[in-house]
Amino acid sequence: MNDTAVSPSRSKTLDILSSSPVSGTHAALGDEVTVHLHSQGIPLFVMPVSKRLKSNFEAFHMWLIDHEEAIEKLLLEFGAVRFRGFPVNGSEQFRDLMSHYPAAAMGYKGGGGPRAAVSGRVMEATRTDKDRYIQLHHEMCYQRQWPLKLAFYSNVVPSDGGGATTIADIRRYEAKIPQRILDEVRKRGVLYSRNFRDGREPTEGWTSQFLNMHRPWQEAFFTEDKAEVEAACEAGGLEWHWLDDGSLQTEARNSGFVTHPVLGTRHWFNQISNQTALPQGDRLWHNTLTAEDLRQGKRYPNEPHFGDGGKIPAEDVELLRKLEDEVLVDEPYVPGEIMMLDNVLCVHGRTPYKGQRDTLIQLLGTGTSE
Ligand SMILES: [Fe+2]
Repeated sequence: MNDTAVSPSRSKTLDILSSSPVSGTHAALGDEVTVHLHSQGIPLFVMPVSKRLKSNFEAFHMWLIDHEEAIEKLLLEFGAVRFRGFPVNGSEQFRDLMSHYPAAAMGYKGGGGPRAAVSGRVMEATRTDKDRYIQLHHEMCYQRQWPLKLAFYSNVVPSDGGGATTIADIRRYEAKIPQRILDEVRKRGVLYSRNFRDGREPTEGWTSQFLNMHRPWQEAFFTEDKAEVEAACEAGGLEWHWLDDGSLQTEARNSGFVTHPVLGTRHWFNQISNQTALPQGDRLWHNTLTAEDLRQGKRYPNEPHFGDGGKIPAEDVELLRKLEDEVLVDEPYVPGEIMMLDNVLCVHGRTPYKGQRDTLIQLLGTGTSE
């Protein structure tokens, strides 16, 4: 395993065949594919060698179903598996390809990022502005229910080499977090305070960045009906109240850790580093307000604190981000590629990019925080 930090800027697509093949996987996956490990430890790459898996979508779909158990074991071992070189064209094929997995019970109701539905349970991966850097995070871990697995599909890859879905092995990451930070979060938990604006209110004079960060509740909960929003909050373990400006304020407390539902191991599971606002540094973070927003007194729509309401020290958040960079894998997509992640064992983010990017996501299975 390579311990060298990787710059989260631009990187070239890995020459997979020069990386290490993984012994012992052939028996489980058969001889129609080759399996290689990224030089940084994850992801595991699966690539077709048979003509039918290279060219026939239905054959690939059946192969995935036939090897679901083996893929499950690989996800539990590596946390991230990428299927490269298989014939998957467009959102509907991506939807059909994953149809043997159950959808996440809560969908993306109450989700933190700008994202729209595309086809059935297929959604855009993110609409976060393309110049913004998305820190590594576990999907929806700020709610009681969250997806067990994520499937990404890269339909259009930016030409500048950016826009990768970055990933990291949570076991490597949490081993680097100082004990005092782990203990503090374990003792105090995490409180997520969030505000969703009313999409019917005028937004004249608002910066595009603030509009991008501050989602309307109608969009975040996929409904115009307040009663449905309240039911989703109840299911998601969110306390809520409606403010005079028509916005929805929610609060959720959890432990900041989770027990893996299959392995029984305990892991760091929060969005402290992703959602805490820090002053703008050399990166444009997805949750950093512009100077104009700050002048206008705008509030951050996502604010994590310790569970007792105490402020999380900015220097600790900076350290968490620095440690993430040390374990980050920034491997650009190849068009048509599928990446499956275990949402506890593997965190994900996104690098900035220029030009066009079309990455889609499906949230699969349902995990519940205790
Ligand atoms: Fe995400």
